[in-house]
Amino acid sequence: MSSITSKPFGTTEDGKPIRLYTFTNAAGMSADVSDLGGVIVALRTPDRDGAFADITLGYETAEPYLRKGPYFGALIGRFANRLEGAAFELNGAEYALAKNDGDNTLHGGREGFDKKLWDAEIVEAPNGAGQALRLTYVSPDGEEGYPGTLRATVTYSLTDDNELVLDYEAVTDRDTIVNLTNHAYFNLAGHAAGDIGGHVLTIDADKFTPVNAACVPTGEIREVDGTPFDFRKPTPIGPGLAKTDDEQIRNGGGYDHNFVLNVGGEKLEKFAEVYEPTTGRVMEAFTTKPGVQFYSGNFLNGSEIGKGGAAYGKRSGLCLETQYFPNSMKHKNFPSPILRPGETYKHTTSYKFSAR
Ligand code: BGC
Repeated sequence: MSSITSKPFGTTEDGKPIRLYTFTNAAGMSADVSDLGGVIVALRTPDRDGAFADITLGYETAEPYLRKGPYFGALIGRFANRLEGAAFELNGAEYALAKNDGDNTLHGGREGFDKKLWDAEIVEAPNGAGQALRLTYVSPDGEEGYPGTLRATVTYSLTDDNELVLDYEAVTDRDTIVNLTNHAYFNLAGHAAGDIGGHVLTIDADKFTPVNAACVPTGEIREVDGTPFDFRKPTPIGPGLAKTDDEQIRNGGGYDHNFVLNVGGEKLEKFAEVYEPTTGRVMEAFTTKPGVQFYSGNFLNGSEIGKGGAAYGKRSGLCLETQYFPNSMKHKNFPSPILRPGETYKHTTSYKFSAR
């Protein structure tokens, strides 16, 4: 069973105290999570010799998380990833959003859920894992252009099997859209270990959603068979990244694509595994969501200085962001992200760490 301690982690621009919560389980794994954006600041997991290292990219203090950045470890909302033209139509009305990524909107707009100070409460974990951290953010009607007051709750827990579990819930008082995720960047060799090309990835997906040059899904759902997007068997990431003759690798600047999961639905099921051969660390990922954005950290360029002074270079971390598909208000063949009053958006995603 894990227990949680907390300490101050800086202040917001309007002077509110930010805290850092540290989970420790019986196996010695620990995780630091902040009430600022629900950011996973650190995750310490064992390698095959039992040596612990911090395997998630992040900053030492709260201040850089308040700036525009690569969303290290943060909760993303109301809408993860891109909506084309920074607008959507719902019930015949057009809603205009912030253009914060060319002509499109990305990760909730100018000030998404990653920049909000969430209300924090230590509760009993829903899965018997001891203490859990429940974060709540109430997004007012019209915030960032989205209709309806959205009450979002994300509960973090850590089991003795080294599984970090994120339970998401949201309710609304008007028809709206919602797509929440966490944007952790993992490097299983250690957060400062550099290029992730040697990581071996498996994703249980027969299909993915191709993107245009602005990284927005075109609406096509394409088979992964015979493409660099076939991760149905354990496959190192580097060789696919090198396939710059592939239009999709070019459009994404590497991997920056939504995979259509073969699993996902009512039951929490395994959809991916990442293995790092030099340390033996393994991350298994489970979800109830229909898609995952596999992002290979293509836009990192060494300008973000993180924990211990690490300069995070291009492709020094990878993200597996579980989600509804990006641009899913344009394409009716994608699962619908619409949430109506009386319904509950309810999803779970977890990451389980081991070594071999
Ligand atoms: C997107 C990338 C984007 C990154 C932001 C990912 O979810 O797919 O295109 O650059 O987030 O850091």
